[in-house]
Amino acid sequence: MPTTKGRILVLHGPNLNLLGTREPSVYGTATLADHVARATATGERLGYGIHSEQTNDLTTMIGFVQNAGSTYAGIVLNAGAFTHFAWSLHDALKSVGVPVVEVHLSNPAAREPWRHESVIAPVAIGTIAGFGGESYVLGVEALVRHLEPA
Ligand code: DQA
Repeated sequence: MPTTKGRILVLHGPNLNLLGTREPSVYGTATLADHVARATATGERLGYGIHSEQTNDLTTMIGFVQNAGSTYAGIVLNAGAFTHFAWSLHDALKSVGVPVVEVHLSNPAAREPWRHESVIAPVAIGTIAGFGGESYVLGVEALVRHLEPA
């Protein structure tokens, strides 16, 4: 993982390991590995190493966040359905002390009402949603712009 300027942690929550076959009409046909490859290429183009993790387990996700502060310049997070209820993840993100960009492949605000609340948004510097795989690319770019203000 190149670390010319720093490292970025890209985290994926529950069911995102199923991308490629999971509801392709909503999430597209690209796999998680495809999205990670694009995020990695984007980070490297901008001078940052990317490390990515996926978990279906909330405790494991909180562990990734708690351990991120000492190693990573920031976090790009697609929390999946944790987005809508996991206040313990909110608290972990609030404590970690590095900027967080919330990303979603779909646009939760345009979907079922229970997806309209995000417990991640209040502790993120911003949210990118609805651009499919571009959301990860834009998320990495947005984080780097935040880290390197013009
Ligand atoms: C998602 C949106 C969430 O509502 C959903 O639970 C997911 C994926 C997205 O990337 O669009 O698992 O985070």
